[in-house]
Amino acid sequence: MKRIPVMLFGAGGVGQALLQQIVNGRSTTATRNNCQLDVICVADSKSYAWAADGLTDQQLQAIVSAKQQGQPVNAANPERPSDLQLLETAVTARPQNLILVDVTAAAGMEPLLDTALAQGHRVVLANKKPLAGPWATAQTYFHHLRLRHESTVGGGQPVIATLRYLLDVNDPIHEISGQLSGSLGYICSQLDGGTPFSEAIASAKALGYTEPDPRDDLGGQDVMRKILILGRMAGWPLEAADLKLESLYPAAMADLSVPDFMARLGELDETMGERVATAVTHQQVLRYVAHVSAEGGSVSLQALPAASPLANMKYISFRSALYDDEPLLIGGKGAGVHMTAAGVLGDILDLVRETTSE
Ligand SMILES: NC(=O)c1ccc[n+]([C@@H]2O[C@H](COP(=O)([O-])OP(=O)(O)OC[C@H]3O[C@@H](n4cnc5c(N)ncnc54)[C@H](OP(=O)(O)O)[C@@H]3O)[C@@H](O)[C@H]2O)c1
Repeated sequence: MKRIPVMLFGAGGVGQALLQQIVNGRSTTATRNNCQLDVICVADSKSYAWAADGLTDQQLQAIVSAKQQGQPVNAANPERPSDLQLLETAVTARPQNLILVDVTAAAGMEPLLDTALAQGHRVVLANKKPLAGPWATAQTYFHHLRLRHESTVGGGQPVIATLRYLLDVNDPIHEISGQLSGSLGYICSQLDGGTPFSEAIASAKALGYTEPDPRDDLGGQDVMRKILILGRMAGWPLEAADLKLESLYPAAMADLSVPDFMARLGELDETMGERVATAVTHQQVLRYVAHVSAEGGSVSLQALPAASPLANMKYISFRSALYDDEPLLIGGKGAGVHMTAAGVLGDILDLVRETTSE
């Protein structure tokens, strides 16, 4: 049985779910893929745990418990080496078949990823930021044979795999669109029922559907990164500036504390209420929709016919030469840490099958 060393950067919701899935899936992984995943390093922002032969399942479960209680990965490691030093240690101990997994939400991971790829190692990303940075630095990650990033768009649904398939069969992509945010989808559906914008946001936050600071969702940056990644995969070397982005809160509210922002949300109700009312008079509903094509794209609140299927589902749509008059649609749940982690695990095993040396 092949033993595959895995380094995990990030131990938040997705990282914890991934560790749990690796532990729970040991026998399936052995039977289906004839391999054992040795998690040799788990690092969060402040600490790390390490074992050259792989942390035991008990140790991995203890890490998950510690993180769930708000503690670091390893309270006994106050001096955390840099990401590059951790990679160097891992490469010295286990140079063959290493897979580095980035499930942080951090900016600035590129030097680590570039070094790993340049040394011939393999990389899996759920972190969108390296793929959505300036094209000059991001282009190296697109269609790289030793890099996978299924979970960056669609929360684990096979979105990237589908796009890769269309490109493989030489089916030129014309346009990609979709509703790419579960939290904004929820807020829009609340508006349909007449709930004021402020209440819809407050309830989404209370249910844990938004980031702790809802502006991280309402600003549309995360959706913009997703549609930019899809556009770049389709072959268009776009920059973020090529996408017109509509934020759902005004710039004047950007610097407020979270409690102040929440307290002043009511100021947005009248304008949003008018937009909802105009949509209703045309039998339409508001949805936060992303589009991209070779020329650029947009991420904005749009009025869609209330009865149309696309107004009523979370979806990603590919219009291509083969799927021209009737686009290829992927729809479904596509959200949450467990599905996202499953997408990461799928990527790890895909790399094991396709690129592992004997
Ligand atoms: N949550 C979802 O449903 C979902 C869906 C699709 C994609 N994603 C993407 O998946 C990634 C992870 O999401 P999440 O919800 O798990 O985020 P999260 O809960 O915020 O966790 C992020 C983790 O990264 C760690 N971290 C930050 N900088 C680091 C560094 N330089 N080295 C190592 N670890 C570092 C943090 O450390 P500390 O614990 O010390 O702060 C934390 O453990 C994000 O990029 C997100 O956009 C998430």
